[in-house]
Formats: sequence, structure tokens, C-alpha cells
Amino acid sequence: MKVLENHSLKKFNTFGIDATARYFTEVSNLEEIREILCESKFSAINRLILGGGSNLLFTKNFDGIVLKNNLKGIELLKEDADFYYVKSAAGEVWHEFVMHCVKNNYAGLENLSLIPGNVGASPMQNIGAYGVEIKDFFYELEAFHILDKTLQTFNAAQCKFGYRESVFKRELKNQFIITSVTFKLSKHPQFNTSYGAIETELASMGIQEKSIQSISAAVCNIRRSKLPNPAEIGNAGSFFKNPEVVKGKYEFLKMQYPGIVGYDLENGNVKLAAGWLIEQSGWKGKTIGDAGVHKLQALVLVNYGNAKGTEIFDLSQKVMDSVKEKFGVELEREVNII
Ligand code: FAD
Ligand code: EPU
Repeated sequence: MKVLENHSLKKFNTFGIDATARYFTEVSNLEEIREILCESKFSAINRLILGGGSNLLFTKNFDGIVLKNNLKGIELLKEDADFYYVKSAAGEVWHEFVMHCVKNNYAGLENLSLIPGNVGASPMQNIGAYGVEIKDFFYELEAFHILDKTLQTFNAAQCKFGYRESVFKRELKNQFIITSVTFKLSKHPQFNTSYGAIETELASMGIQEKSIQSISAAVCNIRRSKLPNPAEIGNAGSFFKNPEVVKGKYEFLKMQYPGIVGYDLENGNVKLAAGWLIEQSGWKGKTIGDAGVHKLQALVLVNYGNAKGTEIFDLSQKVMDSVKEKFGVELEREVNII
């Protein structure tokens, strides 16, 4: 296993930030993970587990060891009358894993097509899009405890999934390396086209009969039309979460801003569209140097070239301040700040 020193992370993060890692290595199996963590030189320094680098922002060089997770393999563990149990190693590319499921008619993850990153990061923030979150089809995951050097299994309840949340972002932050995730996928698809844009896209594609494959294709089309491709413009998807407010606050805002976009939640609160709040605060399409707010999707901050991580971060603070001042709503960053 090669350990590189002062290694550039520019091509390992979709923001394209030019930061370095004091040490950098790629791990392909549990033995390599164990070996590297047991080395005295690396046992007491900061560690960062890296997947596809599509949900983080480097604001400085990383003074520690970066472990790029390259664990590979997809396996159908078992099936019963109703479900397939499909296990994927953490280093598989998420979209390729979804395509494997779509091809084999394992139903459930098709709405999550084309989300960047790796399978191992998917439980970190319970990735979600177009009416589905991974928690809806999650069975269990395996994770390596960095201090104990043991492999532990977590079920859904233990992961404490929420909207863009899990125990691994909170109480267990930096304690585990997720090594595999198993999904429980249906043999009897129940198509989720509650997001209106999917129905519209299926119609414009001329699709009469819905299928796992056609929904996946529709989601890919919508995403390509709305979100900047990190291969062309550096970004990490939504930079902020959509904020939740109490119903009374929403109604108060609605009186002043009738166009405000909000969705009722089961707990009685309302989730506001942060993209709308940011656009109405005048930030859509604005740039400060090479850091910008995307011109089509105000929730996405972008690097138009050589922005530093601190410049993107400072822009995010300005956006948060404006939204707070105009609407009295606190935005929370979704992207992991390193
Ligand atoms: P990384 O960025 O490498 O890591 C993210 C965090 O997880 C870091 O804290 C890292 O240390 C930790 N981590 C990664 N792997 C492991 C592991 N194996 N064990 C322990 N910790 C780990 N997200 C959505 O939810 N929905 C979307 O629709 C969506 N759309 C996006 C669109 C674009 C264009 C982009 C660029 C991003 C989008 N994202 C979306 C965000 C991102 O794709 C997801 O958060 C994804 O799961 C990140 O995966 P990654 O492998 O790149 O993680
Ligand atoms: N909107 C605006 N202006 C904008 C952007 C959005 O007014 O500049 C309005 C839209 O008109 C729409 C509403 O906001 O009425 C919601 O927009 P959209 O459907 O694009 O979704 P989003 O809330 O901005 C969320 C997720 C995305 C996910 C999509 C689709 C969060 C933080 N983001 O975005 O996830 O792909 O829904 O389900 O929940 C990510 O996490 O990185 C991500 C891209």
C-alpha cells in the first residue's frame, strides 16, 4: 500500500478545490484499512475517509491521513418471495450500483439515479431525491470501528436516519469507516412519481407504461437539465439543507411573500425551499471572484475556476446572513466543511 505525502486533493473533490493531504492512501480491503490504522505513525493523527468527494468543501490543507475508499463488489445476498437483499461494497460508484439494480429489476433506488459519490457515503446523510431517501430501502450496513478495529453491523434504527442526517454525522462522527451497505429491494415495484417533474418528463419522453428503467431515465434527464455537472463546473450539489419552520412562521411569511415555496411535513411543520429563499435574497447567478451561486439553481454554490475553499465558505456565510435578515430563517450547510 502506497502512502503519498503532501498529495493534491484537487481531483478528489467535485468542488475542484486545490487542497493537499499530508498523507494520502487508497484502501481496497479490510486488511489494508486495519494495517494503515495500526501503523503508529497514522494512529494518532486526523483521518478523513474519502468517497467521491462530492459532498465536502476543503477550506484548508488536510493535516492528517486521507483514506480513499476503494472497496469493490456487488452481491445478491438472498431473496424471498417479495425482496432482493443486495449488498454493495462502500467504494462502488453510487450511480453504477443503481444502474445494476435498475438492470436487474431490483426496485426502489431508481429515483436516486445519477447522484454523485460512492455507496459508502450514501448512509452518511441518508441521500435523497425525487421523493425517495435511502432509508426507505436500507437493510443494514457494516462499518469498521477505527479505535476498536472491529467490524460492526448497524440496522436502520441504529443509523438514526433523518433528512440529510444519520448517526455518522452526529454522535458517531469520525468513529467508523462504512465498508458495505445492504439494501432491501422490492420484487413488486411501487413507482414513486409524486415529484410532478417525473410525470411531466415521462410524458415528454412518450412513456405510456411506467417501469423502473423509464423512471430512472426520467430522473437522469431532469437532473442533467437542472444541476451543474461537476466535470464542467465545480460544485457539491445543494450547499444548504431546506430549512424546517413551524407552520405559524410559514403562514406569517406567506402573507408577506405569497410566492414562497413550502411543503407540509408529517410533524406539522413546513419545509421551505432554500433555493427560493436564496433567489429572492438576490443571490442567484451572483459571483464573488470565482465563487458563485449557480444561475439555474440558487441552492448550489459553484467554483468557476480557481476559487479557494475559504472563498466558497465566505460566500455561503453571506448567503446565510442575507436569508436570515430578509426572512428570519437560519440556513444550515449540508456540505461537510473540512
Ligand atoms: P464524500 O464527499 O467523499 O464524503 C462525504 C462525507 O462522508 C465526508 O464527511 C466523508 O468523510 C464521509 N464518508 C465518505 N465515505 C465514507 C465511508 N465509507 N465511511 C465513513 N465516512 C465516509 N446528495 C443527495 O442526498 N441528493 C442529491 O440529489 C444530490 N445531488 C447532488 C448533485 C451534485 C451535482 C453533487 C456534486 C452532489 C449531490 N449530492 C446529493 C451530494 C453527494 O452526491 C452525496 O452526499 C454523496 O452521498 C456523497 O458521496 P461521496 O462518496 O462523494 O462522499
Ligand atoms: N427554487 C427556486 N429557485 C432556485 C432553485 C429552486 O425558486 O434557484 C424552487 C423551485 O422552483 C422549486 C423548489 O425551489 O419550487 C425546489 O427546487 P428543486 O425541486 O430543484 O429541489 P431543491 O429543494 O432545490 C432538493 C434536494 C436535492 C434533490 C432535489 C430533488 C436538498 C437540500 N436538496 O433540492 O438534493 O436532488 O430536491 O429531489 O434537499 C443535494 O442534496 O445535493 C441535492 C441536489
